[in-house]
Amino acid sequence: MATTLNLLVFLFFTTLIQATPPVHNGISTATPKGVTLQLMHRFSPSLAFHRVDNFEKFLERTEKQRPHAAAFQQEATQVNLVAPTEDHLFFVNLSIGNPPIRLYLAMDTGSRYTWVIGRTRIRKNKYSPAGSSTQRYLSRDDSACKKLYQCKPQENVKDCMCVVGYADGQTSEIKMGSDQFVFNNVTVKKVVMGLINFNPKGKFFGQDDFQGILGLSPRYPSFTNWLTDFGANKFSYYINGAVTKSSHPYATLMLGDLADIDGDNSTPLRLDGAHYQVTLKSITVGVIKLDIDPKVFVYTGDEGASGVTIDTGTVITYLTNPACYQLFGGMGEALESRGFRVDMINRNNVLCFYGSLEELKRSGFPVVSFHFAQGATLRLNEDDLFMRKRENYVCSTVKMSSFYGDHLKYLTIIGLTAQQDYVMGFDLENLRLSMKLRDR
Ligand SMILES: *[C@@H]1O[C@H](CO)[C@@H](O)[C@H](O)[C@H]1NC(C)=O
Ligand SMILES: *[C@@H]1O[C@H](CO)[C@@H](O)[C@H](O)[C@H]1NC(C)=O
Repeated sequence: MATTLNLLVFLFFTTLIQATPPVHNGISTATPKGVTLQLMHRFSPSLAFHRVDNFEKFLERTEKQRPHAAAFQQEATQVNLVAPTEDHLFFVNLSIGNPPIRLYLAMDTGSRYTWVIGRTRIRKNKYSPAGSSTQRYLSRDDSACKKLYQCKPQENVKDCMCVVGYADGQTSEIKMGSDQFVFNNVTVKKVVMGLINFNPKGKFFGQDDFQGILGLSPRYPSFTNWLTDFGANKFSYYINGAVTKSSHPYATLMLGDLADIDGDNSTPLRLDGAHYQVTLKSITVGVIKLDIDPKVFVYTGDEGASGVTIDTGTVITYLTNPACYQLFGGMGEALESRGFRVDMINRNNVLCFYGSLEELKRSGFPVVSFHFAQGATLRLNEDDLFMRKRENYVCSTVKMSSFYGDHLKYLTIIGLTAQQDYVMGFDLENLRLSMKLRDR
């Protein structure tokens, strides 16, 4: 896989390589070149997104967007549950172009495309292709364009236009080009990215100050293809504390040599087109192992709607129905034995109870653990498992996969609430995902 990716990068960069240090061959040099980037919460007071919005409304909106089965059939691996501007909570603080313009791009491990909404009539974004001396567009005849997924050549159009499809049935066209990404000590040249510098169709583009996506999925041309410019082909992210809170002073994305990889709690990583997949073996509630056939977690290749994906694009965890019934059963019993009245599976396919998170914590609720292949575990406490829905009513952060339709009932997506407080390390050299619990 690494060889293929490097080959693609090499082919695209044959004319450029003489001008830049030969770092595309994956060999890390002696001086660490990694960078640490700030991750900003969408509702951080220092960001301008969703000025009149809040976390509850944000979750309600994402729930309303139900994906189409049709979108899954387009391509198995291009699955985003909701519209791209709607489902991201963390934004990477970085700079693009010459002169460098600061942008806040949603961190998306499920997107192969990095794209930016440039300045338009309805946007006051500072980045514009014309304003950057290092920006270039690809033409439809460039071999780099031909390699891109779902780029459709159009009559009489010289540009390289790609269609990005989302599972809610929406698509958008992006014009592909490249520009430099500027970090403290490292400038990465000619990163392939999409530009939306016209007034795009689609309800979500007019809504807020959303600036774009940093695509970190396994597949070309995601930004992971430029990781070796930072040394090692690795990245990690760390969200300290509950994702429901907007202050995350140390939330970081670390690239290359600085990626925080911990071999002790790690599991094999499978690159499935646009997604990172892991093998889930079992789930425990306290010391009780739930009666789940591990086969329900196995990737069967049926239009991407199976297997276990680690994702940054969703707050909620979607658990395949057969496993979710068992988990809700186990959690329900633990709640009832502590005197809580349980609303078993409400219309949103979540488990809810009457009471508060504080009461739950005082009751000594058991830790729920996800056990992965080769011994790695994710341990979920009360803050990871539940969210306040309204006064005296709390619901699980785990939902049944069929919430978005029956065709998804064998898909498991591990979302951000299950990853909070963990340093998630993606080692793309050794194909391992590490999970290191910090500061709890
Ligand atoms: C983004 O990072 C830059 C450089 O580190 C910093 O000056 C700026 O304040 C950051 N933006 C926010 C909103 O914190
Ligand atoms: C990287 O930049 C920092 C300041 O931002 C500087 O102190 C450091 O020496 C630089 N490192 C390298 C290897 O150039």
